Amino acid sequence: MPLPALVPAVASIDASGDAPFHLTSDVRIEGETDAAAALSAILEARTGLALGADGGPATVTLQVEPGGAAESYRLTTDADSVVVIGADAAGLFYGVQTLGQLVARGDDGWVVPAVTIEDSPRFAYRGVMLDVARHFHPVKTVEAYIDRAATLKFNALHLHLTDDQGWRLHLDSRPELTAAASATSVGGDPGGFYSKADYREIVAYAASRHMIVVPEIDMPGHTHAVGLAYPALVEEPVLSEHIHETVRVYGGDLPVTGVAYDGIAVGFSSLRIHDEATYEFVADVFGELAGMTPGPYLHLGGDEALGTAPEDFAQFVARASDIIADLGKTPVAWHEAGAAAGLADTTIGQYWGFVTPTDGMDDRARAFVRNGAQLILSPADAIYLDMKHSADSPLGLVWANGPTSVARAYSWEPSDVIAGIDDTDILGVEAPLWTETIRALDDIDEMTFPRIAAAAEAGWSPATGASDLRTWASFRERVGAQGPLWASLGIRFHASDEIPWVAE
Ligand code: ACM
Repeated sequence: MPLPALVPAVASIDASGDAPFHLTSDVRIEGETDAAAALSAILEARTGLALGADGGPATVTLQVEPGGAAESYRLTTDADSVVVIGADAAGLFYGVQTLGQLVARGDDGWVVPAVTIEDSPRFAYRGVMLDVARHFHPVKTVEAYIDRAATLKFNALHLHLTDDQGWRLHLDSRPELTAAASATSVGGDPGGFYSKADYREIVAYAASRHMIVVPEIDMPGHTHAVGLAYPALVEEPVLSEHIHETVRVYGGDLPVTGVAYDGIAVGFSSLRIHDEATYEFVADVFGELAGMTPGPYLHLGGDEALGTAPEDFAQFVARASDIIADLGKTPVAWHEAGAAAGLADTTIGQYWGFVTPTDGMDDRARAFVRNGAQLILSPADAIYLDMKHSADSPLGLVWANGPTSVARAYSWEPSDVIAGIDDTDILGVEAPLWTETIRALDDIDEMTFPRIAAAAEAGWSPATGASDLRTWASFRERVGAQGPLWASLGIRFHASDEIPWVAE
């Protein structure tokens, strides 16, 4: 019989072909309360059945039994019972997500096929990034995105909180940032910001779905908004030919000192590198952020600092990474920072070059590993979810070799991207969503699903070649089977014609 369609592919599955478990109103869910609540919500959305601790003799048992690999679980079903055992609470939660995908309509009602699954993640870090600077996205949208990502076993939400277009987090130490630099988004759309209570709510909501929040304050470039609040901290915009060209192609105005910027050009802004006030600012911002971020990582940006001289850039990222390390946190930086001697040696590098590296971007990524740290892989021509999925898509950009098909999002192998880098050097995989053209949750759904599932599989599932399931032919069938579940969860996915969507 064909294997049930699961995404991301599980490490091991055995389908006995025996009689399935029947999911009826007689079924009782027993065990860990949080996991039971998560399962009840999925089953109610998918089947309309409201199952809980009451019910008949057939049981779904959800338990934690420490001992296995972090985030791993075992799921066993037969005609009489379903048992999910997590090695920890996250593992149990992931087993529940898998169980949600196993539910199918049988000849006489809802069933779960008889299977034995043993599953654990390939990489410890599986992230999605949301840019809330180019367009601000309210807390409820962020929470909906967390819900979506968690169903695919992502465990990190990277929030790109600041950029030229806006500063989106209130800080008591630097209140002018949101007071002066949060009102607008790209194209003159409304802006906004998170209060500290909002941020804490997002962190807590993510934790309830076993995700950490990785906040990014992008520096020393991408800092035009800082200058609206603290003019003394920034340089004049550097208006290169590239900036003029972007404005010619995409419209908008050239950036002007002290005026909110709502275009999409990048690489014109810089903090003042040789002014101690800049480092007092960096210390205030990351110090306050560290106090409200329980996760281990603070992201300092470091990308596209084209308005900063290379030696100044190196000096800046070295000091900023030290400030973060001294706060007891692990710095994360985009791969450009790998060029800097003196970077704190715990700094994680985030590679955003192409699947086949160009322009020495792989050298800069390898530098983090030479320092003794690891990499997060975000190859832009595969898993930048803001690339148009097709030429006629009204949303998205194309600069990263776009449009990016689902097949291209899927067809890469993490250990093959950067020569000399293997699994032990890779912390994980992250799929960014930049929001120059993305205004609302429907836009997020349209751009992320189904390609987000390809990133999930790169992060969670066995390596390409280590599992029969890790082929495009298998993936497209398995993704096609998720349509009814995604629709029942309210996800307005892009019904790509590369995928054989099933109706039910
Ligand atoms: C990036 O896309 N500038 C990280």
